[in-house]
Amino acid sequence: MATDSRMLCTALRNRLMSAADAAALIPAGSTVGMSGFTGAGYPKAIPAALAERIEQLNNAGEEFRINVWTGASTAPELDGKLAAVNGINMRLPFQSDPICREKINNGSMDYIDIHLSEVSQYAWSGFLGKMNIAVIEVSGVLEDGRLIPSSAVGNNKTWIEQADQVILEVNSAQSAGLEGMHDIYYGTALPPYRKPIMISQPTDRIGEHYLHCPADKIIAIVETSAPDRNSPFNPPDDISRRIASHILQFFQQEIAIGRMPKELLPIQSGVGNIPNAVLEGLDAGPFKQLSAFTEVIQDGMLAMLKSGTLTAASSTAFSLSPTAMAELNTNIDFYRQRIILRQQDISNHPELIRRLGVIAMNGLIEADIYGNVNSTHIMGSRMMNGIGGSGDFARNGYLSIFVTPSTAKNGAISAIVPMVSHVDHTEHDVKILVTEHGLADLRGLSPKQRAHQIIQKCADPAFRPALMDYFERACASGRGMHTPHLLGEALSWHQRYEATGHM
Ligand code: COA
Repeated sequence: MATDSRMLCTALRNRLMSAADAAALIPAGSTVGMSGFTGAGYPKAIPAALAERIEQLNNAGEEFRINVWTGASTAPELDGKLAAVNGINMRLPFQSDPICREKINNGSMDYIDIHLSEVSQYAWSGFLGKMNIAVIEVSGVLEDGRLIPSSAVGNNKTWIEQADQVILEVNSAQSAGLEGMHDIYYGTALPPYRKPIMISQPTDRIGEHYLHCPADKIIAIVETSAPDRNSPFNPPDDISRRIASHILQFFQQEIAIGRMPKELLPIQSGVGNIPNAVLEGLDAGPFKQLSAFTEVIQDGMLAMLKSGTLTAASSTAFSLSPTAMAELNTNIDFYRQRIILRQQDISNHPELIRRLGVIAMNGLIEADIYGNVNSTHIMGSRMMNGIGGSGDFARNGYLSIFVTPSTAKNGAISAIVPMVSHVDHTEHDVKILVTEHGLADLRGLSPKQRAHQIIQKCADPAFRPALMDYFERACASGRGMHTPHLLGEALSWHQRYEATGHM
């Protein structure tokens, strides 16, 4: 055992082994619950050792695949490595890895895209089948066997409870100062035994600092020392700055009308470059004493905590660039007083999001003229990442804001289309739509009123006349005046893009 070891439990020392030996304990065909949420807190050594073993077996003509369940996306060391050797049979509930994406889209990997708040309920209810092994990164094991969670909590509590056997990675590269930041709630239950969850402020704590795992479930412990790996975010460009400024103006109007306090309401910000850039815009804006009830703390939110714009944040994970990660680790005592990391069935809980009145801000791939949003599928069929927590927050938030550049692929694709090629968030869940051209406030509008707002405020000027033409001809068709469509033409923009490279 290394002198800087975080594995302090004497009774468990006999389970220490190498990553290769631990990976050898995972049988072919098993369902493995791994830790990891948006590039944080995923196991760093065992997936690679397992991928190596799978490759050797594949080369020897033996097929070896497992099902991989996580909190959300992980990193190349997990998703990338296992996908590259065709080691994943079925993946859930969210991913953003390019190799995984390729396998999902070429049909060699099954993928189930689930609201992140619901995954533990799926697992507890048995909808997903049995979990055999959990592989969980922790940042330490105390003498009495309690586990100090890592930089993400995600589904770890559920995986430890659900799996027959547990393998731990104890990562000494995670800050020791994470201890005390977590709030693990052991009061969840299935219906009809549920009780109210007593959180009425993002800062409320209802649980404990540690995860528990019966010692007899732990079959291996591997010590690691490797940082979380996340790509840096793109710096805000003119488009994202304009999107942020529309949102800032809108918030000021809402405060002036008296619909929101001057500290706003707790904010949630999704994954992606544009939501991160909006946070940078908020940090530079006039608002102070904000709070966050969210699922990831990305660079923008960390900067807001540092500047004091944000007083506190509740989340399930970090998703930080290397520079922001260094900042977190250097000033961990400051951040531990302001950040609570919870399991994802609490960070994303509909009851809490509705009670707190969260302002949800998420990215999209395309929206249609009536306000339906596609966050996941390229041209109707190819998976990008997944719905993640966007549905948890969009449906239950006080304000659900979706942000996007008005075009993609150098102007060849309009983000506003006659009909979305896949629906993740229905028109009923989308309250505000923002592009660099403007903000459409869809609250209280009928479908036809929404179409006017979205086309005039959000669509790129190059596509506006064609969208208006579609809408007017749909209205004139007499097929039905509530949500007018031309069925033979509704997806023709996508077909045209596939045929010509331009919508
Ligand atoms: N058609 C085809 N491609 C499109 C497109 C469209 N309508 N809109 C965007 N894209 C492409 C972009 O060109 C870009 O591709 P590239 O990586 O090859 O350059 C990619 O999609 C990402 O687009 P970008 O504009 O950079 O947006 P983003 O980084 O803000 O991500 C989502 C947008 C929708 C992919 C992202 O927000 C997401 O995965 N959302 C679902 C999960 C979620 O919201 N979770 C929230 C809780 S954390």
